Amino acid sequence: MSSDPDEFKQIELQSILPNQVLGFDIFIFMPINGKYISYISGKDPVDENRLKRLKFKKVNFIYIRQEDLAKYSKYISSAVRDKLSQKGGQNKREAIISSAEMIINSVDMLSGDDDLVDWSNNCVEVTKAVVDEIVKTKELSNAYDKIMDFFSSNPSIINHSLAVSSLGVVISMALGNFSPRTLTEVAYGGLVHDVGLGDVSEKIIEKYLRSEQMNSEESKIFKEHPDNGVRVLSKIIKSKNITDNVLKIVYEHHEMWDGSGYPQGIAGPTLAYLPKIITIADRIALAMQKPESSNKNFKYILLKLQQEQDKKRTLDKRMLTSLLQNL
Ligand SMILES: [Fe+2]
Ligand SMILES: [Fe+2]
Repeated sequence: MSSDPDEFKQIELQSILPNQVLGFDIFIFMPINGKYISYISGKDPVDENRLKRLKFKKVNFIYIRQEDLAKYSKYISSAVRDKLSQKGGQNKREAIISSAEMIINSVDMLSGDDDLVDWSNNCVEVTKAVVDEIVKTKELSNAYDKIMDFFSSNPSIINHSLAVSSLGVVISMALGNFSPRTLTEVAYGGLVHDVGLGDVSEKIIEKYLRSEQMNSEESKIFKEHPDNGVRVLSKIIKSKNITDNVLKIVYEHHEMWDGSGYPQGIAGPTLAYLPKIITIADRIALAMQKPESSNKNFKYILLKLQQEQDKKRTLDKRMLTSLLQNL
């Protein structure tokens, strides 16, 4: 028994599935004496009745030891993969919905932690699981590997791109889009959205990732990346899997609702649906990965983005609202 809150990390009860050996212990908090007591041992399969008892008592949150965070992150990834590999039409849809919930919960939980490495590793796993399981296209996974090679020279961009890809998939599902084609295009578009930054200096990329002010020369170079991205993609992969929608995501992800974006400066209803998803995912990822940001909670960032729209309408407000309603 312990009463030190720094030793524990709160997680969602619903992220724990019955009949699995977790490899980490589960604790519950007793408000009556302020202590955390061991409830499920990590060594044995999780007893379904014990989970049900907590649900019955309307307990939504349980606890793990801080040092087990990486184990929990791995557990979420493999649980998502298991769920997605279940067969059958109706079950598949349910599996995707509950995976989406698990992803949202874990992104929410893990992103609140200082150790963003675990979080981005989890994003890698989740994105791969979604892409692998929903789409069984061999060519696409080859293309995926090529993109990974391309990014290997710039680890900060790869983390950012994987986060945008995973968040894009989560956002799409939260908005009710479960079509494999859409999810693939979003996952893929998110992965390559900043590919045009390949030749841009590390200094400028760092400023972008830290949301720091660029001087006019830097900003001019940076703003060329949607154009360059489309050019780079058509050069490195001549695959039919680079669909027009993926190219549109790359080209339009910096367009803004009020027309203040680039490269075209198009506005409002003329903005395409999938690029808008990636624009939001990009903003969330940047806010989450900003080293000095105090609150990296997914919903909190979404609420902030929504509030910002009252001053400067850069995003599709209706999309933000339905996203917030569905999370
Ligand atoms: Fe970008
Ligand atoms: Fe980006």
